[in-house]
Amino acid sequence: MTELIIIKPDDMHLHLREGDVLKHVVKDTQKQFARAIVMPNLKNPIKTVHLAEIYYQEIKKNIEDLNFEPLMTLFFNDELNSDEIKKVSDSNIVHGIKLYPSGVTTNSKDGVDVIENCFKIFELMQKYDVPLLVHAESNDKNVDIFDREKVFIDRNLSQIHQEFPNLRIVVEHISSKEAAEFVIDSGDKVFATITPQHLLFDRNDLLSHGIKPHHYCLPILKRSEDRVAIVKAATSGSPKFFLGTDSAPHFRHEKESSCGCAGIYSALSAMELYASIFETENALDKLENFSSKYGADFYELPPNNLKIKLTKKDFRIPARIQVGNEEIIPLFADETLSWQLSEI
Ligand code: DOR
Ligand code: ZN
Repeated sequence: MTELIIIKPDDMHLHLREGDVLKHVVKDTQKQFARAIVMPNLKNPIKTVHLAEIYYQEIKKNIEDLNFEPLMTLFFNDELNSDEIKKVSDSNIVHGIKLYPSGVTTNSKDGVDVIENCFKIFELMQKYDVPLLVHAESNDKNVDIFDREKVFIDRNLSQIHQEFPNLRIVVEHISSKEAAEFVIDSGDKVFATITPQHLLFDRNDLLSHGIKPHHYCLPILKRSEDRVAIVKAATSGSPKFFLGTDSAPHFRHEKESSCGCAGIYSALSAMELYASIFETENALDKLENFSSKYGADFYELPPNNLKIKLTKKDFRIPARIQVGNEEIIPLFADETLSWQLSEI
């Protein structure tokens, strides 16, 4: 197949950031995606519907293509009471609440420490049918970084799902075989997003033959068998798995540092990358559901009216993106991909 026309996809896990970066990320994203679930982990996390509305307006101001729609989320916090959860449920712009164990990733220090203390809020979310989006990694410092996802699932997520069987859950950016199995084996309320990097890379791509800071993300890249399990899940045709890039820009000096930030900027090339993975698996016929239908179904949104075209053709990724005096290094910087996206 050399050409593929599909419904314009949605990115169900995206970091748009704020300030000068926001404009660049929105510009790159709206070429690829019609809508995006926007993560709330700003320096001052988005903890209320009111703050989400302000952030929504800021994003809207930076949108060139008026067809792009940001889908907002709240940062899970213990101030969430019945009124606020009801507000989320009634809101047309807020679509879920994202739980970060405290300190587990970028701007997550205000996250949760004791999951059991959240049960009242989960109860309300279940009652008002508000989706729980989870960064499923343990923040226990004694747990090896490569085991953090599995440990969080064993210690916390299984229990949450058991106690609140009707709570709709998205296990964000799954990175391990165990996470893929957990989603497959759980009831029909448990879903997962999958990033390009967890489909393409394992930890050798991060750590072998020199450390590659631009491949550092969280959850960290794992073993080859984990990658293979995630590829199998994404290309299986199961509606439990849908697209979420976790595209997360950081400035070059923050990544190429003695203590580098986690995050991979894939907004320039996401659909090209997913297409090449699905092509390798002989599953291009499953790409549209994964990218443009299952996520929308989960969030109870209609499919987009627009379409995109993916063409088998060389596509060069720029070496850098200039943001004022700063630079962002995109995934596959200065390399050539074998698919190219265009709008139709
Ligand atoms: O690699 C990541 N970057 N993982 C996350 O969970 C957060 C993200 C960010 O915001 O930088
Ligand atoms: Zn993320």
